[in-house]
Amino acid sequence: MTSVDMEADVAEVLLSEDEIRAKVLELGRQISDDYAGRQLTLVSVLKGSLPFMADLMRSITIPVRIDLMEVSSYGGITTESSGLVRILKDLSSSIEGSDVLLVEDIIDTGLTLNYLLRYLRGKNPASLRICTLLDKPARRLVEIPVDYIGFTIPDRFVVGYGLDYGELYRNLRFVGVLRPEVYSG
Ligand code: IMP
Repeated sequence: MTSVDMEADVAEVLLSEDEIRAKVLELGRQISDDYAGRQLTLVSVLKGSLPFMADLMRSITIPVRIDLMEVSSYGGITTESSGLVRILKDLSSSIEGSDVLLVEDIIDTGLTLNYLLRYLRGKNPASLRICTLLDKPARRLVEIPVDYIGFTIPDRFVVGYGLDYGELYRNLRFVGVLRPEVYSG
């Protein structure tokens, strides 16, 4: 069961607020260098990528446009991806001929991303790259080349900095692992 004290539900902090901040700045610098002299469209996937997108876009120094999609990769309270992807919110503007960077919170099995990549490629962007804050390669089911990775993490279910369990814990400023009682409750 989840308690009213979010931090009391956390067993371990995997990535501190400071570590995340430093990494996001580094990614922003790298992306600004790689796309120097160009304009970039950042496409982020709600809801988990929201804090990462907000911080990353402000650490990028070239002109960017942003767009938001929302997909559901699994329903209800579960820690397993079903592979079923539904588009709940589509892009607002055309990305045809644009340099697009897909901003993701975490790549786990890769099924969600695989679906999104096919979908976005169908809209004929000039280029399409991927930036993820977290990568969990141990559980990958589809091979996907990822261009920018913040942190590679072990095969554990994590919450915080946008990531949820049962829609909660997204507003934690760090990335952590919950106590087993929280899942079994
Ligand atoms: P995939 O399709 O298995 O790669 O899953 C991608 C989506 O599953 C992410 O965008 C998250 O919303 C969710 N997800 C995967 N692993 C975790 C986790 O450890 N914590 C919270 N959400 C996760």
